[in-house]
Amino acid sequence: MSTKKIALVTGGSRGLGKDMAINLAKKGLDVVITYNSNKKAASDTIASIEEVGGNGVAIQLDARNIKSFADFKKELSEQLKADFNTSNIDYLINNAGFGHEGSVADTTEEAFDELLNIHFKGVYFLTQTLLDTLNDGGGIVNISSGLSRFSLPGYSAYASMKGAIEVYTRYLAKELGGRKIKANTVAPGAINTDFNKERFEQAPQVVDIIASMTALGRVGESEDIGSIVAFLCTDDAAWVNGQRIEASGGMFI
Ligand SMILES: NC(=O)c1ccc[n+]([C@@H]2O[C@H](COP(=O)([O-])OP(=O)(O)OC[C@H]3O[C@@H](n4cnc5c(N)ncnc54)[C@H](OP(=O)(O)O)[C@@H]3O)[C@@H](O)[C@H]2O)c1
Repeated sequence: MSTKKIALVTGGSRGLGKDMAINLAKKGLDVVITYNSNKKAASDTIASIEEVGGNGVAIQLDARNIKSFADFKKELSEQLKADFNTSNIDYLINNAGFGHEGSVADTTEEAFDELLNIHFKGVYFLTQTLLDTLNDGGGIVNISSGLSRFSLPGYSAYASMKGAIEVYTRYLAKELGGRKIKANTVAPGAINTDFNKERFEQAPQVVDIIASMTALGRVGESEDIGSIVAFLCTDDAAWVNGQRIEASGGMFI
């Protein structure tokens, strides 16, 4: 059996999740990542994990599709047995996601439901599905957003889901404390990933506006986030529980 701790990162094929996976590997954890449709990007992440001396496997998961979670759990269990000779993980990082811009007036029910399913309902039930896969003494990190603290027009639905995740995280911390499982939220500010690509390309001035509203004077990069999540998955962070850690370079402070 592997003596290393194992972390599962949803949406580990690109952006923040990829950097989390690499940083977890650097800290000596084995890593399972999920991707939705981008198998090539997932393979690239596994290659990056191996480059830093780690071990990783990738599994497909549509994190909106709650009905698929039982099958995912089965596949995860088989992969864990095959690659790491165990059935359990130590850390679950609920990171997979996509954005949507729309004012309160313009947001459709379909767009709302998509955001609900990926950012809240999916996270709620994937965590529920994996409760007995998670080792006692491990942890959960849910990825929120700076937008749950400050309000920008166009993000009401997305930010509301992130707010819900923060409440859920505190309940996880409370209910799972008896098993010594910690639950925390990491809330990134605006980060330069594919998530914002279209917006930054269509309106490059947004990058300057975000930088001017950020105490550290720039937009975030994926590399600003992964190490924080990896830290939370170590014994050095063993006493951090039920917290929201914002990593935004000081946006709107
Ligand atoms: N970037 C920001 O400014 C920012 C700020 C605050 C919070 N966040 C949050 O950080 C998380 C990651 O964002 P990111 O910037 O890294 O985005 P990204 O670069 O666009 O990467 C998204 C990741 O999520 C996966 N994914 C997308 N749809 C999925 C689905 N239906 N089921 C499963 N996986 C899916 C993608 O998989 P494929 O590669 O297969 O498509 C990819 O791995 C999200 O929860 C986002 O809300 C981002």
